[in-house]
Amino acid sequence: QKTEEMATVLEQQALGSNIFDLKLKAPQIAKLAKAGQFVSVYPNRADKLLPRPISLCGFDPKEGSLRLVYRVTGEHTGTEEFSRLQAGDTIRLLGPLGNGFTVEPGKKAILVGGGIGVPPMLELAKQIKAQQLCEQTIVMGYRDANTFLLDEFEQVATTVVSSDDGAVGTKGTAIDAILANHVTGDVIYACGPKPMLRALRDYARAKGMRCFVSMEERMACGIGACLACVCQSTHEDGHSNVKNKRVCADGPVFDAEEIEL
Ligand code: FAD
Ligand code: FES
Repeated sequence: QKTEEMATVLEQQALGSNIFDLKLKAPQIAKLAKAGQFVSVYPNRADKLLPRPISLCGFDPKEGSLRLVYRVTGEHTGTEEFSRLQAGDTIRLLGPLGNGFTVEPGKKAILVGGGIGVPPMLELAKQIKAQQLCEQTIVMGYRDANTFLLDEFEQVATTVVSSDDGAVGTKGTAIDAILANHVTGDVIYACGPKPMLRALRDYARAKGMRCFVSMEERMACGIGACLACVCQSTHEDGHSNVKNKRVCADGPVFDAEEIEL
């Protein structure tokens, strides 16, 4: 179930270099949302027709609010336009979109976020805690000392960190942080760059764990109609011989063994 909604900006602040934290009033979408889903955000400029897919970093159905944390990718981009939004401005949304994460109750979880894959893991961590679904350990991978949302993760559960340059936490990747801190679990839930997801799939395979990954592909329609966002499935659909999966509609969350990474 999804809906189109004109959202009103409640507040926006910078979280660090080029990272913005946008809080929106969008009661209809907030009511339907699930952790791991995303919204299509439409730039107001007429020359930018395509929406930008942004994950839900948080939502509050009672307050009717959504939280998006996103990176501005460059000058004259749609995300740069979003970064100028101020309280009271409006912006068109379509959502919630995609399947979101389904947590296996009682199975000890390792939540992994890398780079701009960090934001969606915060809502998942909060839901796991609030609903007491399972034990969890959070693993966050950053490039350097420019961490964001880290203090909020630490308030939810035990959190370990890696950074490419070693400025915070373990030097190296999320896997290095998992090994250095002896993090154990039954299931991995992850969002981040493809090399990280691939490494996590291989790690989970070696340990006999399940691994669910949230994929990022360029999108156009965001609702399953245009096939701009397909990734390859590891097995053929019995009826159509189709090996494609649409990240926007069949994902963005997949069992890591079901798709080619
Ligand atoms: P432009 O150069 O103006 O974009 C041009 C076009 O290319 C637009 O249609 C844009 O949507 C598309 N595009 C460019 N880069 C990407 C990309 N990496 N992925 C998909 N489409 C792209 N980013 C965040 O910062 N925070 C998030 O929470 C987040 N969640 C995402 C969830 C999903 C399911 C997906 C697919 C992507 C997510 N992204 C997120 C990436 C974000 O969508 C892109 O960074 C953004 O669309 C780039 O738009 P732009 O206006 O900055 O760039
Ligand atoms: Fe059109 Fe996924 S973006 S099918």
